[in-house]
Amino acid sequence: MNRPPIPYPHMLHGCDYNPEQWLNRPDILRQDIEQMKEARINCVSVGIFAWTALEPAEGDYHLDWLAEIIDNLYANGIYTVLATPSGAKPAWMAHKYPEIRRVSAERVRDLQGGRHNHCYTSPVYREKTRAINEQLAKRFAHHPGVILWHVSNEIQGECHCPLCQDAFRNWLKARYGTLDALNQAWWTAFWSHTYTAWEQIESPSPIGETNVHGLNLDWKRFCTAQTRSFFENEIAPLKAENPEIPVTMNLMGFYDGINYWEMAKSLDVVSWDSYPTWHSNQDGDETYNAFWADAFSDICRSMLGKPFLLMENTPSQTNWHGVCRPKTWGFHRLTAIDNLAHGADSIQYFQWRQSRGCSEKFHGAVMTHANRTDTRVFQEVRGVGGMLEKLDRLRGARTESKVALLYDIESHWAVNDAKGPRNEGIGDNDLMLRFYLQFWKAGIPVDILNPEQDYSGYTLVCAPMLYMLSGAAAERLLSYVKSGGTLVMTMHSGIVDEHDLCYLGDTPACGLAEAAGIRFLEIDPLYDGQYETVQIVKAPFPLAESYRCERLCGRAAAEGAEVLGVYETDNPCMPDNIPCLTRRAFGRGMIYYTGAFMEDRFYSDFLLSLAEKLEIAPALDTTLPHGVVTASRRAKDGTEFFFVMNWTREQKAVNLPFALKDYESGKVYQSKLPLAPYGAKILIRTL
Ligand code: GAL
Repeated sequence: MNRPPIPYPHMLHGCDYNPEQWLNRPDILRQDIEQMKEARINCVSVGIFAWTALEPAEGDYHLDWLAEIIDNLYANGIYTVLATPSGAKPAWMAHKYPEIRRVSAERVRDLQGGRHNHCYTSPVYREKTRAINEQLAKRFAHHPGVILWHVSNEIQGECHCPLCQDAFRNWLKARYGTLDALNQAWWTAFWSHTYTAWEQIESPSPIGETNVHGLNLDWKRFCTAQTRSFFENEIAPLKAENPEIPVTMNLMGFYDGINYWEMAKSLDVVSWDSYPTWHSNQDGDETYNAFWADAFSDICRSMLGKPFLLMENTPSQTNWHGVCRPKTWGFHRLTAIDNLAHGADSIQYFQWRQSRGCSEKFHGAVMTHANRTDTRVFQEVRGVGGMLEKLDRLRGARTESKVALLYDIESHWAVNDAKGPRNEGIGDNDLMLRFYLQFWKAGIPVDILNPEQDYSGYTLVCAPMLYMLSGAAAERLLSYVKSGGTLVMTMHSGIVDEHDLCYLGDTPACGLAEAAGIRFLEIDPLYDGQYETVQIVKAPFPLAESYRCERLCGRAAAEGAEVLGVYETDNPCMPDNIPCLTRRAFGRGMIYYTGAFMEDRFYSDFLLSLAEKLEIAPALDTTLPHGVVTASRRAKDGTEFFFVMNWTREQKAVNLPFALKDYESGKVYQSKLPLAPYGAKILIRTL
C-alpha cells in the first residue's frame, strides 16, 4: 500500500479545537489564533464533533464558518487536521432515522445522546457520512492548510440491531459457505446448540447465547470487519478527491473491542490518545504508569513500522479518571519527551480551550476558563512547542529494534473467553507486559507485533501465551527459528486453532511441541497469594538459584529439550524434576520454553541475559538507577537521538558509556548526566 506522508515538514504540536462551540463569540475565535501562536501550536484537529454545525438540517450544508476558520488558521501558520464528524450523530438525524441508533447486546435500542454510538451497518448512516465527507473533501481536500484527515473519533463498540444481525449472517455465509461447516467450526453439537437455518443465528447476548466460543470470536471478528468497512466508506470520498492527504484514526490504548491491527491496514498514519493515571502513587514514582503507556506507543509504532502521532494527551487533568490530578510542575515536558522517545512525531492535546458547559468542562486544556496565557499549564505547553520547533531532524527517525514481542488480540479474546483454567484473570496481557517491562527498563527497543506481521528479521522473538495459534502462524514461528531465530514461548500456547477448537494430540500444537522438545502435561492455576518455586538446574547464562512463580504453572515433559529449570521438589506430593524452563536447538535457531508465570526478577534476569548473549544492546549500555529509562531513535541523516527520562521525584545521575550532546542546549556530557526530579533529556550522537 502506498501511504502518503503528511505534507508538513515539522513535528506537529497541536490540539483538538472546537470553534463550533464558540461561533457566537468572534472575540474568542480571534483570541484563539493569537493565543495558539503564543503557545507554539502549529496544527489543530477541527470538526471532530461538529456535524450539527456543518449540517443543521438534512442536506443543508453550512461549511462557510469552517472555511473561515481553516483559512484563518492557515494564514497564521497553523495547519488543520480535518476531522470527519461521524463520532457524534446529530439529533435531527437520530430522530428521523431510528435505525442509526445502536442496539445493545440486551437488544435495547439507544435513545439519542452521547457519542461514538451509531450503527455502523445502517445504510442511512453510511450514506449520510459519505455525503458530509464528500462535502468536506470537495471543499477542503486541496486546501494547502489541510494536512491530515482525522476520521471520526475513537471508533469503538458494537451494535446488535436487526441490520447488524443480517450483515453478521451474510458475513458468516461468506466465511463458512454451509451451515454444516459453521456448526463444525463452532462445535455446536455441545448442549444441542446446532443451527439448522441461518436465521437462527444471533449475535452473542446475555439474554441468549454466550457459551459458543466460536460464535463469540466470529462476532468480534465481524465487528472489526464491519467497523473497517464503515471506515472505508468514510475515506472513499476523501481519497477520491485527493489521495495525497493521509488518513488516521485515533486509537484508545489497550481497548480490545475491535482488532486495531486489522484497522491499521486502512490507515496511512497510526495515532492514539494517551491518558495514564499520572500521580496515583504517594511516592511519586511514575515508572509503572509510564511503561504501560510506552507499551501502547510501541504497538502504534510497530503497526506500520514508522512513527505515529500522539493525537491526544492532556496538558494537565483528565476529567474522567477516578481522581483527576493535574500533571505536576515540569511533568508535561517529561511525558512529551517520552512520547518522542517511543516514536511519536507529534504532541497533541485534548483540548485547546475548555468548554463552558457539559461533561468536559473541567477537562484539562491549554486555555482554561480563566482565559489567560500566564498559567503554568500554558507556559509548559509553550515550552514543549519551543522544543518541538527545534526537532525537525527527529521527525521520521526510525527505532531500530532487534526484539519482537508478539501480541495477538484474537488470541487475547479467545483465552479470556474460555472458562478455565483461571477465571480470576488468566493474565495474558500482564504476561506480555511483564516481558515488555524488562526490555523497557533496560532501554532495549522492542517492536510489539501481531503474529501476522513479518518478524523474520528480528534476533529475538518473544511469544507469551499464544493460546490460539493457526497452523499457518505456527509454521511461521517454526520457519523463523529454523533460519536462525531465537524464540521464547510460554505456557498455555498452541492450545486452540483459529476457531477456538482445542487441538487434538500433543500441544503446543502444529509441530511446536516437537520443535521445542517438550509436551504440555497439565496447567495448574494458583489462587492469588499462592506461589510455587522454580529451581534453576542449569544456567546457560547468569540466573539466580530459584524463582517464585504465581497464577499459572504449566507442567511439561521434556522430550528432547535441555532442562534448565524444574519445579521445587520439596513439595512431597509432586514428583521430582518436572520441567518448567527448557531450551532446544531447532534448525539454526533455538526455542526457549518458560512454563510458569514467573516473578518479575526472573524475566529480568532471563530476558536481559538472553539479550546480552544475542548481542542485543540497550540504547545506552550502562547501569540505570531505578526510575530512569532510556530509548533511542535513529534519523536518516546519521544522527542518533537518545532520550533519558527520570520518572521519579528524586535527583538522579546516569553514567554515560560515551559522550553525548544535549540537543537543546548544545552542552556536551562526557561521562555523567545529571537528571532533575521528573527531568528528561534529548541527547545526540552523530554517527
Ligand atoms: C478522548 C476523546 C476526546 C475527549 C478526551 C477526554 O477519549 O477522544 O474527545 O473526550 O477523551 O480525555
